Amino acid sequence: MFVTKKETTILEQQVKELMAVEFGKVPKMENFHTSDWFNENYYKRHILECLLRIHMNNEMDSRAVAIATQSNTALAKMLSYYVYDELGHDEMFARDLDQYGYTATDIQLSSVFSSTMKLMGYLNFVVEKEGPMVAVVWDWFLEFYGDEYNPFITEKAAANMGQAKVDGAAAHVAFDEEEDHSGMMTDMLGTCIKNDADFIKAQKYLSVLIPLVGEYFNELQREVL
Ligand SMILES: [Fe+2]
Ligand SMILES: [Fe+2]
Repeated sequence: MFVTKKETTILEQQVKELMAVEFGKVPKMENFHTSDWFNENYYKRHILECLLRIHMNNEMDSRAVAIATQSNTALAKMLSYYVYDELGHDEMFARDLDQYGYTATDIQLSSVFSSTMKLMGYLNFVVEKEGPMVAVVWDWFLEFYGDEYNPFITEKAAANMGQAKVDGAAAHVAFDEEEDHSGMMTDMLGTCIKNDADFIKAQKYLSVLIPLVGEYFNELQREVL
């Protein structure tokens, strides 16, 4: 197996460095992830974006599974299991949004920010052009990010809005922990990163994807605050 603890640590370190750069560029992004700062409208709009993006992500991952099926059975099996787990997670956030006054129709008629469209466009395009590895790297990042920040963000929201208002988000944090999604994604890295060239490619993907996450938080700040 090419991916050992050493490679995983290098990728985690890269994520931390890239996130620090985005935090430096987008002050409210840093506050949201690391300080007591809380804004209700900002949080609620973020949850709506999470719901919409989960849906798009599941579609993108399904396409990556279809492509992996042609050439990489181990990856196709593991990623399809991950998609199985993730399908319907948008509904957890819909429970919270319902309490914020969003109806199912409101959600259906909502559009993602252009930064999210750009992010998902990049992911889908690279899956088609270069194969499913970008989907695995992105999902690995999502789960790593989830471990690092989602418990903190959710507890802070509960402290500000009441536990009942973050039921869905808290259930999502618990699900990721129970199913060890970050461990699952770390294991999956080994099914597509098989040599130095793959590893360099994975690092390149992260260097494109994390600035797009920063763009999203910049747009969120601009639109809501
Ligand atoms: Fe999920
Ligand atoms: Fe997950």
